[in-house]
Amino acid sequence: MEFETKAIHVGQDPDSATGATITPIYQTSTYTHDGLGKHKGYDYTRAGNPTRTALESALAALEGGKYGLCFSSGLGATASVLCMLKAGDEVIAGDDLYGGTIRLFNKVFSNFNIKFTYVDGTDSRAFEKAITPRTKLIWLETPTNPMLRITDIKAVSKIAKANNLILCVDNTFASPYFQKPLDLGADIVVHSTTKYLGGHSDVVGGAVITSSDDLHEKVKFYQKAVGATPGPFDSWLVLRGIKTLAVRMKKHEENAKQVAEFLANHPKINKVNYPGLKSHPQHELAKKQMSGFGGMISFEVKGDKSLVKKIVEGTKIFALAESLGGVESLIGHPVSMTHVDVPQEQRNKLGITESLIRISVGIEGTDDLINDLKQALDK
Ligand SMILES: Cc1ncc(COP(=O)(O)O)c(C=O)c1O
Repeated sequence: MEFETKAIHVGQDPDSATGATITPIYQTSTYTHDGLGKHKGYDYTRAGNPTRTALESALAALEGGKYGLCFSSGLGATASVLCMLKAGDEVIAGDDLYGGTIRLFNKVFSNFNIKFTYVDGTDSRAFEKAITPRTKLIWLETPTNPMLRITDIKAVSKIAKANNLILCVDNTFASPYFQKPLDLGADIVVHSTTKYLGGHSDVVGGAVITSSDDLHEKVKFYQKAVGATPGPFDSWLVLRGIKTLAVRMKKHEENAKQVAEFLANHPKINKVNYPGLKSHPQHELAKKQMSGFGGMISFEVKGDKSLVKKIVEGTKIFALAESLGGVESLIGHPVSMTHVDVPQEQRNKLGITESLIRISVGIEGTDDLINDLKQALDK
């Protein structure tokens, strides 16, 4: 079955009770049992809900995985994966990650004596060199937030397999439409479904996808035991969102390519980070492991904070807001917004400076978006 068909049909058969074509929102916390020890597969919504099951099946199919598990946020999904670790375990992570993920690692899980080592995500060998007898998990984001760097998933997965480590890839930026980490050797894929999967900036959610029976059992246990689960309506919103994922991703990319070209040729801009540009240092790798380059761009302006302020406050279509992946275009300043909790030293090393702006290119008209950035830059 093709991607577009899976997005609309997998897990979404007509409702068995009523024939409703669209999966109903099973807005219930509990289920009436037929008798002691007898129920229809659901007993309490934290443990399972039919609307959530539909979404979990569809997401598994889109990532080419056997199992999907949904969460109340991307960080809820990440935390539930990390719950598999024990005190003394170590994680090797790529150094450019969403700021909230780094905050969760450094300020929450490190309190439980789990050690996080950050390595240059563009250098697969760096992961290998950082392995110790206590390493259990490798955590990657690719393309990264906000620098749009690329990690070679296949190369790192070989290292993970050779050393008996779990490889987890946050696939939020690419979405399964452009990248399938499980096919490239990852054990677990994590998503913030808040972003492209939901696609309309009206829901917060997360997901874990795997083909491993063992990892599925473990994360499913923490899904129920920790309880970061999505409500039925939120599950339904993401399920509705993914039906149009393919058409949205095509337009996000088409717009982003043209916006990136425009920015790359603008005299007030130093550097544009977009894996679809030939100038991107890992353009060839991106071409190899992704089927498209997505809709996220970051760029560094020539000048100080006053120019940055003028641009992010000067756009009329791009809204100054956190988050990404919705149909509407957003503009943000990672240092003071999404990446405020990343240690300054780590930010400086990566180039997450005061001059860096991140945009999530939406699916509006291409010329409108370019003209909007142009008027903000030329003010
Ligand atoms: C790449 C990435 N992963 C995870 C998250 C966390 O997701 P959520 O905000 O849904 O908890 C985000 C949020 O921006 C993100 O950009």
